Amino acid sequence: MTVPSHSTHDALEDERNQNIKIYINGDIVPRDQAKVSVYDSGFMLGDGMWEGMRLYNGKWAFFDEHMDRLFNSCKAVALETGLDRAGILDALSATAAANDMTHDVHCRLMITRGTKVKPFQHPALSQSGPTIVIIMEHSKPATSLHTSGIRLATVPQVRGLPMSQDAKFNSHSKLNCVIACLQAEQAGADEGLMLDPHGFVNTTNACNFFIVRKDEVWTSTGDYCMNGVTRQKVIELCRASDIPVYEKNYSLYEAYGADEAFLTGTFGAQTPVTTIDGKRIGDYDGLGPVSKRIRQLYSELVAENTA
Ligand SMILES: Cc1ncc(COP(=O)(O)O)c(C=O)c1O
Repeated sequence: MTVPSHSTHDALEDERNQNIKIYINGDIVPRDQAKVSVYDSGFMLGDGMWEGMRLYNGKWAFFDEHMDRLFNSCKAVALETGLDRAGILDALSATAAANDMTHDVHCRLMITRGTKVKPFQHPALSQSGPTIVIIMEHSKPATSLHTSGIRLATVPQVRGLPMSQDAKFNSHSKLNCVIACLQAEQAGADEGLMLDPHGFVNTTNACNFFIVRKDEVWTSTGDYCMNGVTRQKVIELCRASDIPVYEKNYSLYEAYGADEAFLTGTFGAQTPVTTIDGKRIGDYDGLGPVSKRIRQLYSELVAENTA
């Protein structure tokens, strides 16, 4: 399998993932038999929503928060999920059991508007009910992510205004992010740092973005980015631990001059950023001191949540 040499989703190789079983609409089938129709709304239009979640000790971390986002997103686009929260939990549990997975697992839960009767856009053409797919893999972030960190490049692609396609949707359609990622790669970086329509620093193509300046933690207002569950947990942990934290507008001027920078996401928790547009951030191999403290607090919170 060819994957980019360095990305925020680099995982340790695990041969077991070649033989996983995948959930599709109630069936759990071997990976090479897991297929959806070419008429599926997700394939044809990116018309679907998804969640990335982690399983530790047989429990899904921050399950309620992920379901809040998923159900809010589906409601906003009139996507009937077919399953309620308990039904989704049952489907996740059945998939985990079929794979004999309990710990260090990452799942991608996807719900699309389902199979269309004709290859056109109108949502009413999706008449099969939703397509629900769960892919679970054994997953530990690559250790190199924590030693060498991520190189960011600011990209021309921005996160748009909420009345175009609200960035808060974790939709199947990720073309906006994919374009940003390609632009970053062309600039010789690992991930794209995206601005908002006003030019303030916003988020990256796959994670949320934080800086640390003089022991203060700053992140964007949240108006133009995916409101990550990990992002919210970091903000709450800072507040509870007397670490000054601000959701505010700031520009590249402050990002370039930051003492530390890190990314947040369910997959990698907190991942250090080493350079932005070739400018070195801090002088650390891996996370700086404030980011390291946040990572420790976060891992304790995950342990508590999945105990
Ligand atoms: C564009 C984008 N930003 C941020 C995140 C991180 O969100 P979370 O912390 O909920 O995993 C994701 C994860 O899906 C994402 O796709």
